[in-house]
Amino acid sequence: MAKITASVYTSHVPAIGAAWDLKKHEEPYWKKVFDGYEFSKQWHKDNKPDVVFLVYNDHANNFSLELIPTFALGTAANFETCDEGWGPRPVPDIEGAPDLAAHIAHSVITQDFDLTLCNKMKLDHGLTVPMSLMFGDVEQWPVKVIPLHVNVVQYPIPSGRRCYELGKAIRRAVESYDEDLNVHIWGTGGMSHQLQGPRAGLINPEWDNQFLDDLINTPAELAEKNYVEYLREAGSEGVELVMWLIARGAMDEDKAPKVTHRFYHVPASNTAVGHLILENQ
Ligand code: DHB
Ligand code: FE
Repeated sequence: MAKITASVYTSHVPAIGAAWDLKKHEEPYWKKVFDGYEFSKQWHKDNKPDVVFLVYNDHANNFSLELIPTFALGTAANFETCDEGWGPRPVPDIEGAPDLAAHIAHSVITQDFDLTLCNKMKLDHGLTVPMSLMFGDVEQWPVKVIPLHVNVVQYPIPSGRRCYELGKAIRRAVESYDEDLNVHIWGTGGMSHQLQGPRAGLINPEWDNQFLDDLINTPAELAEKNYVEYLREAGSEGVELVMWLIARGAMDEDKAPKVTHRFYHVPASNTAVGHLILENQ
């Protein structure tokens, strides 16, 4: 049986990817960010999953306003990365897990969630920045990845409750797969940030840290939060945080998770960086 053993949460700020690629790790501004991920890189070496189910959002790089899937599952064997204006990042392609992805598609859709299936999809900073932060510089990524894109760009976006319930459906799907696979699920994006309008630059550390506490301890209650509160308190792009509820919903329900790592830092570019590793006990 396949099993989800851990969930990982992190911001995906594109400037982190640029700082990484330009080797700015020792610059004081970026060192404070990268130091928060040193533990995580070692932890991933010691706890390497077979597959990462990676919940992220595309930023109008693969999709556009011509086509807006709420939930889009990557079922391909290989994914290229996007050119976001400066050429694709110098990172390897991402290897998919098409057999498990097809099983998850079948299971989750028959549990009444409408997934769009993507047999071809390019992946942007929403996915590649978390990969660099967790696995460092590599010739080839050490894991297979099943990407799940969530629309948090064009309203209406899915509710926290729907994301949390989708996570539970993904857990049931993984646990009904015959092969013995160690699966991790990641929730990415956030934390508080707003890139546009008069409130551009908004950061809300108190709200973010309460979100981290609630995600760990009371996720079902957190899932009831309306998107308007995310917008008001965490900013227009802070609403990316609803994606973390998918990963949290996929964790065991009967036992509280172990908090293996917690990191929070302001700022990276315009964003409050948050990062958690939770393990099923
Ligand atoms: C920034 C953060 C994001 O999540 C994003 O998608 C783009 C830019 C930023 O902080 O600059
Ligand atoms: Fe983003």
